[in-house]
Amino acid sequence: MEPEQTPTKKLDQIKDTAKVSWQLLKLVWKVDRWLFLGAAGSTLVPAFIPFINIYIYKLVIDLVVGVVSGTPFDPSKFYPLLALRVATYFFQEVAFRTQDLVERILWTKVPMVISELMLNKITSLDVHYFENSKFRDLIDKARESYNYRPQQLVDQLFFGFQNLLQVMIAFVAIAKLNWFLVVLVSLVAIPEFINQSKQSKLAWGIWSDNTPYRKRHGYLQHILQGPREAKEIKLFSLAKQFIKEIQGIQQKFYEDNTGLAKRNYFLNLIFNGLSTAVFVGVEIFVIFEALTKKVTVGDINFYTGVVSNFQNGLGGLFRNINGIFDNSLYIKNIFEVLELESIIKIPEHPVALNLAKAPRIEFKNVDFKYPESEKYILKGFSLVIESGEKVAFVGENGAGKSTVIKLLARFYDVDGGEILINGVNIKDLDLEGWYKALGILFQDFNKYDHTVRENIAFGRSYKEAGLAEVIKASTSAGAHRMIKTLDKGYEQMLGKTFEEGIELSGGQWQKIALARAFFRNAPVLVLDEPTASIDAKAESEIFSRVERLSKEKTVVIISHRFSTVRNADKIYVIKNGAITESGEHQSLMKLDGQYASLFKLQAKGYQ
Ligand SMILES: Nc1ncnc2c1ncn2[C@@H]1O[C@H](COP(=O)(O)OP(=O)(O)O)[C@@H](O)[C@H]1O
Ligand SMILES: [Mg+2]
Repeated sequence: MEPEQTPTKKLDQIKDTAKVSWQLLKLVWKVDRWLFLGAAGSTLVPAFIPFINIYIYKLVIDLVVGVVSGTPFDPSKFYPLLALRVATYFFQEVAFRTQDLVERILWTKVPMVISELMLNKITSLDVHYFENSKFRDLIDKARESYNYRPQQLVDQLFFGFQNLLQVMIAFVAIAKLNWFLVVLVSLVAIPEFINQSKQSKLAWGIWSDNTPYRKRHGYLQHILQGPREAKEIKLFSLAKQFIKEIQGIQQKFYEDNTGLAKRNYFLNLIFNGLSTAVFVGVEIFVIFEALTKKVTVGDINFYTGVVSNFQNGLGGLFRNINGIFDNSLYIKNIFEVLELESIIKIPEHPVALNLAKAPRIEFKNVDFKYPESEKYILKGFSLVIESGEKVAFVGENGAGKSTVIKLLARFYDVDGGEILINGVNIKDLDLEGWYKALGILFQDFNKYDHTVRENIAFGRSYKEAGLAEVIKASTSAGAHRMIKTLDKGYEQMLGKTFEEGIELSGGQWQKIALARAFFRNAPVLVLDEPTASIDAKAESEIFSRVERLSKEKTVVIISHRFSTVRNADKIYVIKNGAITESGEHQSLMKLDGQYASLFKLQAKGYQ
């Protein structure tokens, strides 16, 4: 069952809704104030028209009744009234059409602006936000929310206001007839409101209750239909089991929803019955008032019209208020994303690097844990990489090697100690400049569904380059020969997203990514397990080229292949976030520690 809503929670929800609504209205106002005013105006005008209309009609009926009972027909009163009635219809039509037009333009424009704001914000956020599932969820939810929900919310705000005006006008009119009727009509409205908001609360309970189910449902759907998953699903005969789980989730949804619908059915029946009773009661009351000549015959029509407007307006008001609460819960995500702030603070006066030469890199007593995690990944981690040095990191999975690389790119800030680049704390550096000096092939590199040439050229987007340079990089990466065998060579589209695209093998993608890293031609080159899917022979070719090509460059290689690692100037063995051994191959072998034992183990495999 739904969790009990405490009054403070309810109050918070109201505050949140008000805040989100205000933020959204401000945003729309900023996008285009004329369209905003047009939309507001064309929504509010129709609040008055029905009353004017039925009032004119009342006057017409009174005239007719007068004529029937003997008063002479006065065309100077009659025709202007008819003309006025036509005019109100015309006004109403203009308001509707204006609203249609204005909304169409406004809501083509606003989502574009929100999308742009979101993209600019999200791409400016730290890597941290993307590696954290809570924020990824938030970003996903915000992305799902900005297509139509802002429009719904603004419409509900405008129409809610329209309903409110309608109700207030009707209220005054009924009070003029008889204040007791106002009390009666209002008394019926209170339980109706409670019923409506309870229904929407129930719907919310189901929604939030089922959030984990919904997520699981989406995941199962995805895994059952995904191209990458198909092979294992088939071989392991997993489909039946997953489909059964989906059916279970759907069954739960079904039961919850039908239970809700049935409960609502009876509640609605009762409350609609009450409303109808009040309506009929007012009708009878006015008829009796007319019989005793306290009101005119036209008033019978007028007041039943007013009560009907009151009830329609009230119903609309409740619906819109509930819609406002509902939608603002989604739109809150958008503003939450827009309010996210980068954790990495860019210094006010950043120090620029001299990019001509590879800088000296120093990790000094670095402690680090991922935000929202308790466990230290690096503890007292120290190391110096001199300009132009070729170093290698080895160590078990999870030892912290890739984390060191992320810190080197300042995707995170350290929790203790410091990272110095040419003696300057990385926190004081001009990051953009530092990135230009840094070429990293990440362990989980990107596979762009673009052409081969673009895939490689993306490595250095800030400077134009011709095909010759691309070919040079791909040759060094051992990718050129493979690319030549593709139908369209360097213009071959890759990936499965687009029709002309072709899928590459893991090793082929890795070569392309390596070529991209080489193409960057940065003074510091970091390769995080760059050859995991490349065979040993190709790998040794690649690395002899790396050595030759990058005499001046600093190279950091993380690899499980000792044949690659052994040529490094210095090898660091990383264990549990600290360096346990370091030195060149021969001295580490002599040390006969972890490195030596791992090396011997792997060498045995090759014998
Ligand atoms: N974004 C992250 N949030 C929390 N923990 C992480 C994150 N990335 C990696 N870790 C954890 O940090 C440890 C070191 O990971 P990593 O540096 O990738 O190891 P390696 O590259 O040596 O295999 C692992 O225990 C891993 O689970
Ligand atoms: Mg790693």
